[in-house]
Amino acid sequence: MEGSTRIKKRIMNIVGARPNFMKIAPIQRIMAGSGCLEPILVHTGQHYDEAMSKIFFEDLEMPRPDYFLGVGSGSHAEQTATIMLKLEQIIDRIAPDMILVVGDVNSTLAASIVAAKLHIPIAHVEAGLRSFDRQMPEEINRILTDAVSDLLFITEDSARINLLREGVDPEKIHFVGNVMIDSLLHFKGKADGSNIMDQLDLHHAPYALLTLHRPSNVDFRQTFVQILDALDDVQQRIRIIFPIHPRTRKMIDQFGLSKRVANMENFSLIDPLGYLEFLKLMVNASFVLTDSGGIQEETTVLSIPCLTLRTNTERPSTVDIGTNILVGMDPDKIRRHSFDILDGKIKRGTVPPLWDGKAATRIVEVLEQYR
Ligand code: UD1
Repeated sequence: MEGSTRIKKRIMNIVGARPNFMKIAPIQRIMAGSGCLEPILVHTGQHYDEAMSKIFFEDLEMPRPDYFLGVGSGSHAEQTATIMLKLEQIIDRIAPDMILVVGDVNSTLAASIVAAKLHIPIAHVEAGLRSFDRQMPEEINRILTDAVSDLLFITEDSARINLLREGVDPEKIHFVGNVMIDSLLHFKGKADGSNIMDQLDLHHAPYALLTLHRPSNVDFRQTFVQILDALDDVQQRIRIIFPIHPRTRKMIDQFGLSKRVANMENFSLIDPLGYLEFLKLMVNASFVLTDSGGIQEETTVLSIPCLTLRTNTERPSTVDIGTNILVGMDPDKIRRHSFDILDGKIKRGTVPPLWDGKAATRIVEVLEQYR
């Protein structure tokens, strides 16, 4: 009888930008089956294009958001402030028992500040990661979100060390594994059914997969051109598929590089892909070149060599035990490591502990027990 009168704890799950969707999907799914938690899904609208948002809801079988804030693009301050103003009204109205944020995007930080000031407990999934590079907007978001969070769910041991160094109470830290890998393992079979390889005519020859959107790589002409120089050489030996982020497309136009890119014959620039199509391309790629955070982790689990075009990573386990190599923006290094792979010199790795597809289940167990 007790069960029928008990009110479920309301957990407000926040998503905003592309890398949030695959992290929230398994949490939202497991939470929906919990006897004592009621998930409420809020989409800030930080990403709003069909290809950056809507297709992910379909691919990941996510419910429609209960609330959509429609904030869109803007400067960091504008975007963060707009999310804060709109979310405050919703939190006031529905009085959640907790908010849950994932990753390190502006929506993550904005939601955390609002909740902290309204004395709503905060759970941060993927806490404690540090690149130690404060030029990255995400690093600021990570540090500040962790500072106000009550539950810190970590993916790897480096995160615990970072949090303890920042004075976090060890009782708040829970090593649960990696929710992004929950989605990867859950949807890998379904992704295999995608016909993206036929569409791009990729069955007959090997290819490399590229993503590039970090401001540090694409917002400065000289850096961007150096990276393109290296990629130009690589594409002479292997076709490169490049699903392009809107920010990067804008910068190519702005820097007058459209012709240069069009002249690279084996370099296929395509629109951003959905989750399942991208996963299919990753699984079948010879190697991946990227400046994304999550892709470093996904390639490690898939045993696909990954060259990360950054000088640091907040995900050191992918380098220490996974397939990831940091090549930075140095064109010689990008070339050399790509050619090594093409010549069969391939870094092998293993899967980090608890990246086993059950992270969301562990998170929900902790939330059910909380207070
Ligand atoms: C954001 C995250 C980054 C994440 C990336 C993945 C922050 C600080 N950054 O970066 O950590 O790796 O998402 O995609 O939160 N735009 C569109 N359509 C969209 C979204 C964006 O055209 O649906 C364009 C706009 O011109 C916008 C620009 O992309 O100004 C940047 O978008 P923004 O959300 O500010 O950051 P991202 O670069 O996408």
